[in-house]
Amino acid sequence: MTSQQNKTPDSTASPDRVEQQVADLLARMTLNEKIGQMNQVNSDGPTVVDDLRSELQAGGIGSVLNEVNVDTVNALQAVAVEESRLGIPLLIGRDVIHGFNTVMPIPLGQAASWNPRLAQDCSQVAAAEAAAAGVNWTFAPMIDLTRDPRWGRIAESLGEDAHLASVMGVAMVRGFQGEDLRAADTIAACAKHFAGYGAAESGRDYATTDISEHELRNYYLRPFHAAVQAGVCTLMAAFNDLNGVPASANEFLMRRILRDEWGFDGMVVSDWDSIAHLSIHGLTEDERASALAAARAGVDMEMVSRTYVRYLPELIEQGHIDIATVDAMVANVLRTKVRLGLFERPYTDPDALPKVGHPHALKVARQAALQSIVMLKNEGAVLPLKPDTLSTLAIIGPLADAPYEQLGTWIFDGDERLSVTPATAIAELLQDTGVQLRYCAAMETSRSLANPAFDEAARLAGEADAALLFLGEEAILSGEAHSRADINLPGDQAELVRRVRAAGKPVIAVIMAGRPLTLSNIVDQVDAILYAWHPGTMGGAAIADLLFGIESPSAKLPVTFPRMVGQVPIYYNQKNTGKPPTPETVIHIDDIEVGAAQTSLGMTAFHLDAGYQPLYPFGHGLSYASVAYSDIAVSPSEPAPGDTVVVSARVRNTGSVAVEEVVQLYLRDPVASVTRPVKELKDFRRVPLAAGQSLTVRFEFATDSLGFYGQNMQYVTEAGEFQVWIGGSSEAALKTGFRLIQAP
Ligand code: GLC
Repeated sequence: MTSQQNKTPDSTASPDRVEQQVADLLARMTLNEKIGQMNQVNSDGPTVVDDLRSELQAGGIGSVLNEVNVDTVNALQAVAVEESRLGIPLLIGRDVIHGFNTVMPIPLGQAASWNPRLAQDCSQVAAAEAAAAGVNWTFAPMIDLTRDPRWGRIAESLGEDAHLASVMGVAMVRGFQGEDLRAADTIAACAKHFAGYGAAESGRDYATTDISEHELRNYYLRPFHAAVQAGVCTLMAAFNDLNGVPASANEFLMRRILRDEWGFDGMVVSDWDSIAHLSIHGLTEDERASALAAARAGVDMEMVSRTYVRYLPELIEQGHIDIATVDAMVANVLRTKVRLGLFERPYTDPDALPKVGHPHALKVARQAALQSIVMLKNEGAVLPLKPDTLSTLAIIGPLADAPYEQLGTWIFDGDERLSVTPATAIAELLQDTGVQLRYCAAMETSRSLANPAFDEAARLAGEADAALLFLGEEAILSGEAHSRADINLPGDQAELVRRVRAAGKPVIAVIMAGRPLTLSNIVDQVDAILYAWHPGTMGGAAIADLLFGIESPSAKLPVTFPRMVGQVPIYYNQKNTGKPPTPETVIHIDDIEVGAAQTSLGMTAFHLDAGYQPLYPFGHGLSYASVAYSDIAVSPSEPAPGDTVVVSARVRNTGSVAVEEVVQLYLRDPVASVTRPVKELKDFRRVPLAAGQSLTVRFEFATDSLGFYGQNMQYVTEAGEFQVWIGGSSEAALKTGFRLIQAP
């Protein structure tokens, strides 16, 4: 019997019983023990147990992050549980963003699968691997919406659309937290970063965000609301200044929205030092004032900056913040620990959990990579490659055989020894075909400049039947603090493409990157493009399967691809403006007559040198079949409030191979009390289609889901016309409509 087992709150109890147990524990805690629960400390390495022992014994720490040696974690738990007065176990946090040892595609890639079940499986695998290391809390999913590919953290995001990000984010929460949060292979999730972080000015990470309440409520907050409704255990406060009040001190976000409107009863953790940053933002004059501002806002736990333990005792004693407020915050921490079952099971038995490289983990990683890779272009059906038509294949580029780079950003615990690279997978797939492979990296890194190896690459391409170019960004060029102002292919990759193209053979580009890149300077020089994001451990195997038609590409873009970075922000669900552009109103800068009169151009919302359309739109993605949409129908045509609307269409695989099509439903409310987007994703479904098969896809939604936050920031549904599209991208043309009638 451990010293605290007779005091163990029983997390199997009902919510009321849990609350009673949290209250009982709280009632026995001293002020310092309470504030200790609000204190998260970083593990600085192998001496962490001795470094923290006395603080742990005094109940001065509620959580440790970045410790993943299971024996060390168990030793930390033993001090907290066996050597402190109340024996409260620790939350052990880690960024398990897209896999632990087995790395899945980056979240932006997982979003491209439009397959919530798959995203859930990826998170489930990650949770089990992380739990085996003693981790019981991940700082994921990152569900910040963004429309800015310059921002490095777009790699961690689920793209630009609130509905897709909500569905995929909730799937990840379910994957991490499972059916039973107390189970040995499930961990607490953390929806981050609350909120608006993805709107950083100019895409520079940590930069200021200025977001109207209208835009916050109708867009940026939606995935967080979905995650809270799905039972996410925790949220993380964002770094950014939001409308003049940094998120870590923003009571509108943390109290009005999260607690009062959404009823969230979980825990909010700050981001790294984000409480101490408040004085750097200029909101407070020093760390004491920062601690007060963050506590008043309701940030329950402080990540590493220790202002709470330094200043909250005196702030409470001097009456600047009342103990009831602090008790509520401590209760949020304790409730999370009870829900996790930490009091019954504070220790980890790694033998009870899957070993690294487990076949199931690799299978999920391969499936996720297969369904995340978007075929942007396939001129003349150059793909799939047919080995019996090839005698020599050139494999060229810095990312053809880069086991670490293909893992992408935020992979602290990724094991690159598990990586299957494209070069390896292609060699294996072709080993008995007699096809000769000629390999030339041509560039040491993705940022290298033109060099004599380009001659070798061009020669190999000329001597081959086709050239595979593996291009993109190394992992470090996206992720936190890794924003880029120029989002072309780095280095002299465009020159490498030109040289290989000049050899006159079919050129297929496979691009790995942590963001949409601007591809306008190479897109016409390649016959096909597979956009693989950073595909993770099994990326190479998936790429090979797609290149040779073992599987058909099925992914769709979760984010818009601009022609030029100057178009950013460019996204599909934009407002119409009062002067919307059309092909007829656009005049290209090269076509303007010298001396043209001021009003001679289109006078609509476009760029003279880029037009107004993206290179590739949200929802775009090709497969090895073509899919026809027809017979769209909606019922009832005049729904009343409270009705269910059914929209359907016929979908037919007109190709000769089986594919999975992501059928997308878009709506528009063309006239409302506030302007609404020209299109909004309402629902989607991955539909398997055998060659020649056709079927009817039906979507249903309640009329009250047609609402939005109006001029008074209340959620309203308004009668009137609604336009409806069903198709394979946001450029869907198959259209119908219905009229929501006034309530009788
Ligand atoms: C970082 C990130 C956050 C992460 C935390 C812990 O700065 O902003 O996403 O979870 O620190 O590593």
